[in-house]
Amino acid sequence: MPTKQLFQFDAICHEYKLGNVTKCVLNNISFQGSAGKTVGVVGESGSGKSTLAKILVGLLKPTSGKAIIKGVDCHDNRAQTTKLVQMLFQDPESSFNPRKTIQWHYEEALSIHFPGKNPLWIKHKIAELLESVQLPLSTANRYPYELSGGQKQRAALGRALAPKPKLLILDEPLASLDVPLRKQIIDLLLKLQREQNLGYLFITHDLSTLKYIAHDVAVLCEGNLIEFGTASDILSNPKEGYTQRLISAVPDLIPRRT
Ligand SMILES: Nc1ncnc2c1ncn2[C@@H]1O[C@H](COP(=O)(O)OP(=O)(O)OP(=O)(O)O)[C@@H](O)[C@H]1O
Ligand SMILES: [Mg+2]
Repeated sequence: MPTKQLFQFDAICHEYKLGNVTKCVLNNISFQGSAGKTVGVVGESGSGKSTLAKILVGLLKPTSGKAIIKGVDCHDNRAQTTKLVQMLFQDPESSFNPRKTIQWHYEEALSIHFPGKNPLWIKHKIAELLESVQLPLSTANRYPYELSGGQKQRAALGRALAPKPKLLILDEPLASLDVPLRKQIIDLLLKLQREQNLGYLFITHDLSTLKYIAHDVAVLCEGNLIEFGTASDILSNPKEGYTQRLISAVPDLIPRRT
């Protein structure tokens, strides 16, 4: 439905150039997602998931086709879409400067997106962001290496929320966490989605997580979109053999959301 639509891939093709060699990694990809909903993206390693994410966040320009957020082209008007979308990576450690505190990282994100705000406003905002990701205020004074894996991913999530994005791209955000921690972060993501009507593009190899969090699922195979539909249809009744193989390879770690 056009009014609810948050983002859209429209006939995206992407080629990487390695010297004289051109490699096509995305071929005519079209699908969309809505505010307050999660689109899961699955596919074998190298199927093009992260490339698609980088196109939507504006880090890569597609060879052809358009990536659109709230009706705005992510590349023609990147200044407009950059506030709307944030990305969370598999390894939160690498997204932090190890010599700087969490407070420094939050201040940096806030001052980019809300220039000219006074120090008191920033202090309150940092407290609000830490609370939203269920971290104590004292986390602000800590260095990334002083946090556990789960705390680090929460801290990265809080920073991603600083510009008040409408869309979060989550590229394997749970891969470095053990199963109980995964469940905690998923529950936090679901809570934030409800509270802030956030849309998620959730990339994972773990289909048991998708059963829990995704409303729709896109299946990529060697750069082609081979299935797109509701999570219940695709996960319970996959049409393609490739999807069936992906699903049958995964143990059910987390019970299905009702
Ligand atoms: N900067 C780059 N230059 C050249 N080729 C690249 C580049 N980045 C990715 N590729 C290639 O593009 C293809 C898709 O990569 P991509 O990272 O999008 O896959 P992926 O589905 O995210 O894989 P994974 O599940 O392992 O993270 C792969 O064959 C990869 O080797
Ligand atoms: Mg990837």
